[in-house]
Amino acid sequence: MDNIFEVIEERSSIRKYTDEPVSEEMCRTLIEAALKAPTATNRKEIHITVVGKDNPVQAEIQNDLDPDRKGSFYYDAPLTFYLSAEEDFGWSDVDAGIAVENMHLAAKALGLGSVILGCMKKVLNGEKKEEYSKKLAFPEGYTFRIAIAVGHPDTEKRRHDFDFESSVTVI
Ligand SMILES: Cc1cc2nc3c(=O)[nH]c(=O)nc-3n(C[C@H](O)[C@H](O)[C@H](O)COP(=O)(O)O)c2cc1C
Repeated sequence: MDNIFEVIEERSSIRKYTDEPVSEEMCRTLIEAALKAPTATNRKEIHITVVGKDNPVQAEIQNDLDPDRKGSFYYDAPLTFYLSAEEDFGWSDVDAGIAVENMHLAAKALGLGSVILGCMKKVLNGEKKEEYSKKLAFPEGYTFRIAIAVGHPDTEKRRHDFDFESSVTVI
């Protein structure tokens, strides 16, 4: 699927994956999609940490977030990409959002599924921020912004509905 409008139309957040690994080539394509995204003043401050499903740091994060949760909040996706950015750059959240959406759409175009993940922000930017920033190998002075879990989809989901009229005002 390589038509952008088709990708946008068909995209949805995927929360069930097969065990099939994501190839190194696909992984690289996704990272490049993020790095090709625009950034404010062309700062290019986004850093990406690639974490495999079995890396113990994921279980640790989940345990700190919600020890009672039954399923994985990574939905057992084979890979999760953590986007970090300069702590003091005012546009970092916007830049990370644009970069992660590029990855989400690129994943769809490659026949993969993905879900953007923000739920771990509370833990990664909380009192254990320093510890987790080291464990996730964020560059010095960088903090967590957003993550995206990626894998081969084991489910089909149509895109969400929206209400054009109430979402738009022409003045
Ligand atoms: C900034 C952001 C954070 C999100 N965080 C999570 C999350 O932590 N867990 C999750 O399951 N989905 C998360 N999502 C996915 C949304 O729940 C999803 O996009 C929304 O329900 C609409 O569904 P759709 O993407 O399938 O259209 C996040 C999406 C965005 C944009």
